[in-house]
Amino acid sequence: VNGVIEIPVVFHVIYNSASENIPLSQIQEQVDALNEDFNLQNPGRNTIPSEFQTVESNIGIRFVLEDVIRVSTKKRSWRPDDSMKFSSSGGSDVVNPQEFLNVWVVGNMPYRGGNILGYAQFPGGSWATDGIVLDHRFTGNTVYSTGRTATHEVGHWLNLRHIWGDGGCGASDFVADTPDSDGPSRGCPTYPTVSCGTNDMTMNFMDYSDDPCLNMFTEGQKVRMMANFENGGFRVTM
Ligand code: ARG
Ligand code: ZN
Ligand code: CA
Repeated sequence: VNGVIEIPVVFHVIYNSASENIPLSQIQEQVDALNEDFNLQNPGRNTIPSEFQTVESNIGIRFVLEDVIRVSTKKRSWRPDDSMKFSSSGGSDVVNPQEFLNVWVVGNMPYRGGNILGYAQFPGGSWATDGIVLDHRFTGNTVYSTGRTATHEVGHWLNLRHIWGDGGCGASDFVADTPDSDGPSRGCPTYPTVSCGTNDMTMNFMDYSDDPCLNMFTEGQKVRMMANFENGGFRVTM
């Protein structure tokens, strides 16, 4: 892939209460945060430890706001079961998924005693459910968010795994330059934290640290993401 890839983004704002019907300004903040993170323009970059600066990557994807679809719904909360992706179940149908990133913004997703900030579909799933889902409180800039949940979910959408490989030491994320880790980070870890014999890359967007402490993708992650756009890749038509 040569040059910067442009991805048009369609937001589906699915609201029950008025506060869930987030303003255009908040949607634009979210697009801006994605563009920062995928083009080495995020403000937290300067906190990346020097051992990891060497693998920090400019992904080179620009996100452009294509459309905002607003749908009033009777549903007060959601499960991460893709029901928000269909008008027949109180949501909004996907738009042109072969060319657009679809983002569904919903009220809340209680799950197993907690709350899901967002979730994504990996490449290769049904086009009808292709895209990412965000809780409106973790979209753009809010008291809980600086927009990094979308960055994390777009990482999954482009085939990235969590840096701990969803297992203990030895479980792989299929990326060589993200050090092995034994599990997700929480909060804002003070560098260095060590697991599996190496310093953890807790500031990687594919870890679970808080938004202000997620600040980088690696070159290895870029290779994995770019494979989607190369010959035979999932998103080659874009
Ligand atoms: N899918 C993850 C969750 O629901 C998203 C984590 C995003 N982390 C963040 N700091 N924004 O928990
Ligand atoms: Zn994740
Ligand atoms: Ca790794």
